[in-house]
Amino acid sequence: MAYLRNIAAPFRSLSARLLVLTLVFVMLAEVLIFVPSIAFFRLNYLANKVELAHLATLSLLASPDNMVSEELREELLFRVGARSVVLHGANSRLLILSENMPPAIDAEFYLANQSPLPLIEHAFMSLVVGPGRIIRIISPLENEPNSSLEVVIDEAPLIEAMYDYAWNIFWLSLIISTLTAILVYLSLHWLMVRPMRRLSESMIAFRRAPENVSTALIPSKRRDEIGVAERELEIMQTRLRSALKQKQHLVALGTAVTKISHDLRNILSTSQIVSDSLSEVKDPKVQKVVPRLMTSIDRAIDLCTQTLKYGRADEQVPRKERFLLEPLVNEVKTSVGLRENNGITWRNKIPSGLMLNADRDQFYRILLNLCRNAVQAMEGEGTVDIQALRAGSRILIRVGDTGPGLPAKAKQHLFEPFSGSARAGGTGLGLSIARELVVAHGGEITLERTGSSGTIFCIEIPD
Ligand SMILES: Nc1ncnc2c1ncn2[C@@H]1O[C@H](COP(=O)(O)OP(=O)(O)O)[C@@H](O)[C@H]1O
Ligand SMILES: [Mg+2]
Repeated sequence: MAYLRNIAAPFRSLSARLLVLTLVFVMLAEVLIFVPSIAFFRLNYLANKVELAHLATLSLLASPDNMVSEELREELLFRVGARSVVLHGANSRLLILSENMPPAIDAEFYLANQSPLPLIEHAFMSLVVGPGRIIRIISPLENEPNSSLEVVIDEAPLIEAMYDYAWNIFWLSLIISTLTAILVYLSLHWLMVRPMRRLSESMIAFRRAPENVSTALIPSKRRDEIGVAERELEIMQTRLRSALKQKQHLVALGTAVTKISHDLRNILSTSQIVSDSLSEVKDPKVQKVVPRLMTSIDRAIDLCTQTLKYGRADEQVPRKERFLLEPLVNEVKTSVGLRENNGITWRNKIPSGLMLNADRDQFYRILLNLCRNAVQAMEGEGTVDIQALRAGSRILIRVGDTGPGLPAKAKQHLFEPFSGSARAGGTGLGLSIARELVVAHGGEITLERTGSSGTIFCIEIPD
């Protein structure tokens, strides 16, 4: 299957890395064991020599005058594997066995009460210094206080034995570590790698076709972390799948609403024309109902228009141009439907030379939404106050009013489409559209202040 390409190649896989790591770690552990064991191997070897030498001296001490024949002396030294053996009695030095020409001693070692570190050091010195040293071993005798035995030996056979021992340990370690690594590899492969691979395969399959239920992961009954991951992944996939389905339904619904709004607006436009001509009828009854009819048709058209604009989920990308802000605000004033002397003061405090670098049409809509809300909130009395200033590389525009402030519902759902309206006939789209447009300009809109003395919205966009 093609998606298997996303699964790690064998030599980069978790199992291959684990195999190598286990090999390395077991070898490391074996090295740690090897260091003290080679030292004790040497100690045992030397103690063994002393033991043999002691036995030889005992047979000598049993003979008359402690003297033996030349052949027997040589035979004894050969059996012990020593150049000379000297027994120190409690108060005398007794030379027992020796070659005719005593050799020069290269190093001397005491066997009693050795702590591990010097033992290790001596062992490694023996290995690196090379063959050919003549060493003297001095050891106290068991059960005979104040007496000791000195044995002079060649180090070469010792070193050879040590190398043999090291090789044996090396091969043994290699076999042990390979065996352990294979066992660890197999068990980890079984316990972790296989289920992990199943998890990642399921993730990939889900990413490719989230709605395909047949690729869903069937979690095992494991109680460990992998079991938890499997179950959580399954829950996540199920939830995502249903969220996706819901979203598809919403999209379909949105399309339907948009179509309805579009056709409804056309139908309403016709009614608008009809009611326009109705207003020419002089009948007082008709004159009384026509304005209300007109207002409700206007509202209905407005609702359709807004819904349509919102339904176009991708608002056009702002086409930026430089324009003067002050005249734009004057246009907004005309559109919010302010008549002269109706109790609302319009203060356009924009500096006359201030230029904006933005989409003029979209900015018109932003300001219109904010100003219309302000005028609607003040119910015929108050002041709309529009200011702007440049702050560094950004421009701040404040739209303030002296109205009653945002109702709780509007504050809770601030900038949320369809849910923030607290006004009869409102759609709850004005603020959310304004926000969407400001954000598309790389700016931000915030509710700076709201309360019984008025409301200020602040728009901040880059220059
Ligand atoms: N300047 C304001 N003063 C008081 N209330 C406001 C102001 N601006 C908005 N609101 C409240 O926020 C709600 C949401 O506004 P908006 O998103 O424009 O939707 P709509 O105007 O369609 O209700 C309004 O219904 C209104 O109650
Ligand atoms: Mg509004």
